[in-house]
Amino acid sequence: MPPDVPPIVARSLDLSRREGFLRSCRHETGRLLATLAASRDGTLAEFGTGCGVGSAWLTSGLRTRARLVTAELDTAMAGKVQELFADEPQVEVLAADWSALTTYAPFSLLFVDSTEPKQGGRDLVADLVDSGGMVVLDDFTPCTTWPPVYAGRIDTLREQWLTDPRFTTVDVMVAQDASVLVATRR
Ligand SMILES: C[S@@+](CC[C@H](N)C(=O)[O-])C[C@H]1O[C@@H](n2cnc3c(N)ncnc32)[C@H](O)[C@@H]1O
Repeated sequence: MPPDVPPIVARSLDLSRREGFLRSCRHETGRLLATLAASRDGTLAEFGTGCGVGSAWLTSGLRTRARLVTAELDTAMAGKVQELFADEPQVEVLAADWSALTTYAPFSLLFVDSTEPKQGGRDLVADLVDSGGMVVLDDFTPCTTWPPVYAGRIDTLREQWLTDPRFTTVDVMVAQDASVLVATRR
């Protein structure tokens, strides 16, 4: 695995450290985001910007004709991330609820990384993504059983994504202790 991260990712990681923000996506997820972004044209989106680490990885893979829109509810945090991306004309950071991004749909890739749409928004998400578009959901724990189990209970969120006929979905184990769902809209 390459040891270095793209400069925009390094800057967002610096911001995370300064803010003491511990919820940024890890390198393994970031590299997957960048790789998927590099296959997409059109509008890519992220619900829940945090300190911009996921946005930075997506930006590092962004094609010339694509753009990225991301929304963060915490206005102060969003302002800092806006500064970080000030020189990136293909990236727009909104200080807003994730729902403000629905006006930018359809998306060719949607990274759902804030709790509310991740837990309950599958129907909405299905309507926001292009046919062939991808949805990415982070922060799962690898599991080899079916149905998937987390903390002694059936992981219904993961089970529903993996069986929803509107999507073809894979559980990608990006590290020994981390997996990511990638769902392609049919
Ligand atoms: C897991 S962190 C995001 C990490 C980031 N996507 C990354 O990859 O580094 C979740 C973020 O969602 C934000 N958030 C929570 N509710 C939100 C909402 N309704 N709309 C937009 N952002 C929200 C939180 O403030 C937090 O910064």
